[in-house]
Amino acid sequence: MRWTRKHLLGLEGVEREEILAILDTAAKFREVLDRPVKKVPTLRGVTIVNLFFEASTRTRMSFELAEKRLSADTLNFSASTSSVKKGETLRDTAKNIEAMMVDMVVIRHSASGAPHFLTDHIDGSVINAGDGTHEHPTQALLDLFTIREALGDIEGRKVTILGDILHSRVARSNVWGLNALGAKVTLCGPSTFMPAEIERMGATVTTDLREATADADVVNILRIQQERLEGGFLPSLREYARLFGVDAARVAEMKPDVVIMHPGPINRGVELSADVADGDRSVILDQVTNGVAVRMAIIYLLSRVRAQERVEEPEILAEVGL
Ligand code: CP
Repeated sequence: MRWTRKHLLGLEGVEREEILAILDTAAKFREVLDRPVKKVPTLRGVTIVNLFFEASTRTRMSFELAEKRLSADTLNFSASTSSVKKGETLRDTAKNIEAMMVDMVVIRHSASGAPHFLTDHIDGSVINAGDGTHEHPTQALLDLFTIREALGDIEGRKVTILGDILHSRVARSNVWGLNALGAKVTLCGPSTFMPAEIERMGATVTTDLREATADADVVNILRIQQERLEGGFLPSLREYARLFGVDAARVAEMKPDVVIMHPGPINRGVELSADVADGDRSVILDQVTNGVAVRMAIIYLLSRVRAQERVEEPEILAEVGL
């Protein structure tokens, strides 16, 4: 058994074999999504709550769809329409969830560490759907799945992550995951967007866009997070677009088969031009499709650990009817 963890809180410290267990399981579920009936009975009787304290389109819908595709019972919680508005704390919210005997909690929160905090207060499995500027492990796993799908392998590939590294939980989780699978990671962006001692994570760091992208197999472009930009990190969005934005002219200077990625949501015309976002090198919507399969795999593997069952490939194949 290659996956033995009860929670998925981040990719820091997660081993290559564990990541491959998720990606290989996701490949099975990806086939389910191409069927006329995109549903398996695997998680009947399992209850999952999606706790979103921060805005989300892709992650929230993707988790909900993954849960429904697995036949789990799903509850959706949004901070803006909950008793958090009346002052209820995260701890009390967690205790109430615990009292309802849910099996798994998916949480997005603006505070780094909120998913870890939950693990001390509930018995169920916890999945981090993005915590502050810390980690977004399921996004990185779907990125890894999409790179493997586009290129066939990840080992030795040069992956450039471009933009606001400082505020990016996507960048952090990607660096951990890419390093575990043997990719060569370059981080590129304005120096004000580079965290101190970021090289310690095992990445090359540069502010030179041409140098970072000329021989890259993959360029993963990050969103400029305007909601986290207090403190004069950028003179203006127009200047950022001119110096670090990726448009067709910049893509023409990259490898002809470069893979262009973006976790979304995109600020079109800022970090990425519309023609590149919608162009033939872009796999941005493949990332979204793959996200459902990857989240099905994560939920499935965590539920099996919870049930203390062994997971072997033939069993997965049998369960999805392949
Ligand atoms: N990539 C991502 O996390 O998108 P959402 O914020 O829409 O979930």
